[in-house]
Amino acid sequence: MKFYYIYTYGCQMNESDSERLAKQLEDSGYKATDDVNQADLIILNTCCVRETAENKIYGRIGELKHLKEKNKNLIIAITGCMAQKNQADMFKRAPHIDIVLGTHNIQHINEMIAEVQRTHKHQMNIAMDNSVLPELEAKPGGSFFAWVPINNGCNKFCTYCIVPHVRGREISRPISAIVEDVRRLGTQGYKEITLLGQNVNSYGLDFKNGTDFGTLVDALEGIPGIERIRYMTSHPQDMTKSMIDALARSSVVVPQLHLPVQSGSNRILKKMNRHYTVEHYLDLLSYARQHIPDLTVTTDIIVGFPGETDEDFKGTLDLLHKADYDMAYTFIYSKRSGTPAATMDEQVPDEIKKVRLQQLMDVQNEISLRKNKAMEGKTYSLIVEGPSRTDEHMWFGRTPGNKMVLFPQDEELHIGDTIKARIVKGQTWVLYGTPIK
Ligand code: SAH
Ligand code: SF4
Ligand code: F3S
Repeated sequence: MKFYYIYTYGCQMNESDSERLAKQLEDSGYKATDDVNQADLIILNTCCVRETAENKIYGRIGELKHLKEKNKNLIIAITGCMAQKNQADMFKRAPHIDIVLGTHNIQHINEMIAEVQRTHKHQMNIAMDNSVLPELEAKPGGSFFAWVPINNGCNKFCTYCIVPHVRGREISRPISAIVEDVRRLGTQGYKEITLLGQNVNSYGLDFKNGTDFGTLVDALEGIPGIERIRYMTSHPQDMTKSMIDALARSSVVVPQLHLPVQSGSNRILKKMNRHYTVEHYLDLLSYARQHIPDLTVTTDIIVGFPGETDEDFKGTLDLLHKADYDMAYTFIYSKRSGTPAATMDEQVPDEIKKVRLQQLMDVQNEISLRKNKAMEGKTYSLIVEGPSRTDEHMWFGRTPGNKMVLFPQDEELHIGDTIKARIVKGQTWVLYGTPIK
């Protein structure tokens, strides 16, 4: 019996790729293990979106050296975005790894393993073919929840971002393949799916036949077993009102929108190559809120982009108030070599970036708390996810809007059950509820 262990870093697309790697490994006889010491194969599915992510991963790769010393037959593979970005440098920095597999090559994992076993030499495949997307089945990690990639890659080239460089050009999967995936998942007992893409709103534009994200949303109506459909990430430049109409009329798409704004300054948005204004963004948001009741809205924001002044930053703080987000993922700008922003003048000093990040989080935390308190006394449907990681007497589930609700453990409840719960307490990050029987 051979065991594999996968570390997954980065975004949901990587989570989904890890599930596709896992399926191929299981098809060739490997079994998953929770104990890395027991593994015959370790995969690090990596992210390079910020420098901190890369440093953390290099640290982990270093720690694996002693396992390799103990077990000469252990195979270590580096997959994902950092493998694509750093390529052969990975072997130079860490000769104890065996495989470097790029973002377009996860379908070759078993061949690469066989080659290592045969030759005992480093194996690398980082070829990028921007015309085909392999159709690969996944082994979903959860019992009721599954990711469904709809498009891969990104054509946007925001000036700070490495993703288009490591994920390649955008390719959409055919609607029929996506519908088939979702149908199969529905019959297998999966209730909740998340449609994934770096930019879901540009879905289908590459077919050049009028298909868009709205067409896909309509095609996913009424699939047996599927209770909730989520989607991420949305892009304010490509999201149209007609797509919002499609989301609003769907009976399964949940009232949740992750709409990264990145900055509240039009000047900075332009330097970021984002192609929209704060005014356009807020107009889109208000249209979405008008048409989708009880919409949870989250965003991504970068502080300290090159040239960001106090005035620009004040624009971002103002925007937080106007957009009234449920939550914001906030990041300190990180230089990524090869991207235009890395060589822009007026890089913002680290101390200023840190102060701005803290201010931003303080403002957002207040807004999040107020919004969660406003949910007290209301009733929501939850899909039970299991025991809380922080409190063993509590279980948790999520609302349609994706808010986490903790409730007292109850033997009659099982993972995957859809229940109703009344919110008794709203905190900044989490809500407490009582199941209603
Ligand atoms: N495709 C998605 C997500 C991309 S990566 C989108 O367009 O929103 C997730 C987030 O990481 C981005 O939204 C951005 O806020 C952040 N990010 C990307 N590159 C970054 C960088 N160089 N420094 C800091 N944050 C970055
Ligand atoms: Fe990066 Fe921009 Fe593409 Fe998102 S849309 S992945 S931030 S380049
Ligand atoms: Fe990271 Fe790659 Fe996702 S760089 S954020 S894992 S697309």
